[in-house]
Amino acid sequence: MTEPQPTAIHRQDYTPPDYRIETVDLEFDLEPSSTRVKARLAITAAHDRSGGARPLVLHGDALELVSVALDGRVLGAGDYRLDDKGLTIAAPPPAFTLDIETRIDPAANTQLSGLYVSSNVFCTQCEAEGFRRITYFLDRPDVMATYRTTIRADRAAYPVLLSNGNLVEQRQVEGGRHVAVWHDPFPKPSYLFALVAGDLACNEDRFTTRSGRDVTLRIFVEHGKQARTGYAMDCLKRAMRWDEERFGLEYDLDLFNIVAVSDFNMGAMENKSLNVFNDKYILADPEIATDADYAGIETVVAHEYFHNWTGDRITCRDWFQLSLKEGLTVFRDREFSSDMRSRPVKRIQDVRSLRARQFPEDAGPLAHPVRPDSYIEINNFYTATIYDKGAEVIGMMQAILGQDGFRKGMDLYVQRHDGQAVTCDDFAAAMADANGVDLGQFKRWYSQAGTPELAIEGSYDTRAGAYEMTVTQRCPPTPGQPDKAPMHIPLAMGLLDAQGQDIRLRLDGETADAAAPGRVLAVTAPRQTFRFVNVPQPKALSVNRGFSAPVNVTLAQGGAERAFLMAHDSDAFARWEAGQQFATDLLLRRAGEIQRGAPTPFDPAFVEAVGQILRDESLEPAFAAEAIALPGEDYIAERMDIVDVEAIHSAREALRQAIATSLRADLERIVAANASPGPYTPDAAAAGRRALRNVALGYLAASAAEAPGTADRLLAAYRAADNMTDRMAALRLLVDLDGPQRQAALDDFHDRFRDDALVIDKWLALQALSALPDTLARVTALLGHPAFALEKPNKVRALIGSFTAGNPLRYHAADGSGYAFHADRTLALDPINPQVAARLLAPLGRWQRFDAGRQAKMKAALARILAAPKLSPDVYEIASKSLA
Ligand code: PHE
Ligand code: ZN
Repeated sequence: MTEPQPTAIHRQDYTPPDYRIETVDLEFDLEPSSTRVKARLAITAAHDRSGGARPLVLHGDALELVSVALDGRVLGAGDYRLDDKGLTIAAPPPAFTLDIETRIDPAANTQLSGLYVSSNVFCTQCEAEGFRRITYFLDRPDVMATYRTTIRADRAAYPVLLSNGNLVEQRQVEGGRHVAVWHDPFPKPSYLFALVAGDLACNEDRFTTRSGRDVTLRIFVEHGKQARTGYAMDCLKRAMRWDEERFGLEYDLDLFNIVAVSDFNMGAMENKSLNVFNDKYILADPEIATDADYAGIETVVAHEYFHNWTGDRITCRDWFQLSLKEGLTVFRDREFSSDMRSRPVKRIQDVRSLRARQFPEDAGPLAHPVRPDSYIEINNFYTATIYDKGAEVIGMMQAILGQDGFRKGMDLYVQRHDGQAVTCDDFAAAMADANGVDLGQFKRWYSQAGTPELAIEGSYDTRAGAYEMTVTQRCPPTPGQPDKAPMHIPLAMGLLDAQGQDIRLRLDGETADAAAPGRVLAVTAPRQTFRFVNVPQPKALSVNRGFSAPVNVTLAQGGAERAFLMAHDSDAFARWEAGQQFATDLLLRRAGEIQRGAPTPFDPAFVEAVGQILRDESLEPAFAAEAIALPGEDYIAERMDIVDVEAIHSAREALRQAIATSLRADLERIVAANASPGPYTPDAAAAGRRALRNVALGYLAASAAEAPGTADRLLAAYRAADNMTDRMAALRLLVDLDGPQRQAALDDFHDRFRDDALVIDKWLALQALSALPDTLARVTALLGHPAFALEKPNKVRALIGSFTAGNPLRYHAADGSGYAFHADRTLALDPINPQVAARLLAPLGRWQRFDAGRQAKMKAALARILAAPKLSPDVYEIASKSLA
């Protein structure tokens, strides 16, 4: 490699800024290929000047500088220095005004960072470092300023002009143009700046806050799509009310705007009072959105709204603190969704996704702490660890402090830090101080990467009537962290008696009134024994109830004990977990037998336990659906020493068939009993019935070989569906079955929804997820389909991402074709959108988990990527760390 390699920056090197920017006055003259930006910055030195002036170094990226003036005096080339990092003024005065004019090309901005054009709409994305692609600036989150923004644009093409804060004035000017002026009274970092200009329709509503503020709510979308914004608006209002009730946090302006765009690198963005969304997380109606889409909209709308306090009013000091706002805000949106829907079902789904995405990350070459120590490209750190493990860390604080104690900590955090840019330590300090507790050891969750492993053993002493549980903790080494110190792990547990009732538990040395049916133990030492006294003979041990800590547990439990917990545990999550672990034991054993060529029958106790769930009418259907669904292929892979995707797939298919064969009557009854009762509603109860019915249908389809009518039945279900959830469920099953029915349904789906980009994404994804052997060939052909474009992140994720991250069986084809495809697509995408290219790379980095043949091919694909000239820092960082 001839080019200089990108360098890492380190958390320990943080220094406060040398200059403050108090106010920012922006003027945009919008033209797609040549937009002029004038910025007037009021700047003051942050240091006393006894040691002389320090240079002012403003960030800039892909900017054309037109002019720069200091206190009105135009600077000449000798007065400043320009390089590829930005603009430097060697010794400015202690307080001054800087006028900068730049020219940018939004139409050519395929990275979708900074100001870009999406379907004729101008929009911005400034997190993390996009503002420097608009003007020269101290583009770091600890520089907070108030913004005034003037937007000038063609009136016919861009009738809607939006920015943060309040609209100050709007008027027409000569040349068919018009002008809008916005002012945001709240100081904010540059990453929260936003601007939108376009021809957009709007759904308007109102919300009155607890203290009587009347807020106008607007959701802007493409014309003709207003009717699909009703659910998002409803979610927004529910989120606003919930944050008042749960956290006492009220909205702080008279206007709250959301804009949905079709080209967006992530899910959505919390710009102050002007959230910009990937339209996938706004648009919904029963025809085009599944129950999962509705749930996603609820979560993301709430998440971005909640950022107004945890992110905007109180922001991050530097990007190493990203989880300060993201982990906390994910925690908040999870609590919201749990209150809106079923708490245990939400927990189950979050744990499934944590295990599918975060645990592998934590076990691989890209493992990093919740508060990282270094990075090359911050865009690579919007990870499952920062978001989801970060949320687990916050959740554990709530488990330790209780909901009231946690609320006290939140109140103190807001009281201390409103208007500031702070750190994860500041957050933990507020929690500790408000509750008078020491979180010193607990804070290792922020600094140590890796998923802790708990080995648990229990034994009952009949004579003493005592139960001893011994817990050993170990955190595996991760890059840069060979040795770990013991963590503070809140472990929720209980003991069940023969009737399935919780035994009241009291630790040796505690008084009798400490006894409780379930306990949260503080696991803090490398090895620790908890001795419970006055315990009658227990039947089963239940640990990590509610997934109280994000750890892997090893606990030797037989099938009978797991089946007992599946039927009786008082904690719904633990009932589900017992089933998952039971199934995992069976699948791992069967995978090993397949490798040796000698499969033996599955333990019938598992199938029987599934049957009991199907027949238990007292269960919530949404819970039953989760409880009978087998663990995913990824999760089984995580538990195997050397991943064998084919053995895993065959083992899982065999267990599905065994269930279908033994429980056919129950499954048919569930399918019939949960048929759509009337017009579609997206509420959790109705969604739960659909989920249960579709899991049951999935089992029945697993026996396609025995029941030759399966494809016809699925095609009929596809045709009869009156909503996208049922339609997709049938089609998902059908794409795994080769035959004319599959093609008929795929063609029908395409023709029906050809004009709906979001639905065509589903069509692309389904084909990429197919278990059929020719899937890669079909995916490759679809790259040339008119509906596909490398410039559109949603298309890339739907087709390429679904194949590389969602289809382990075909992606890991032994001939390496999946890896070669991945490398080719990465190299094609990197010059267009490096952020998205880098985010898709993770599966290649898991090579250590595979056999020697696949390892060599995966590493070769990574090496080929790294050898390419002009690689972005984004892809360079992921590929080089993956090979290390
Ligand atoms: N901050 C956004 C969120 O989580 C995510 C995001 C990051 C969006 C970077 C765009 C760019 O809500
Ligand atoms: Zn967020």
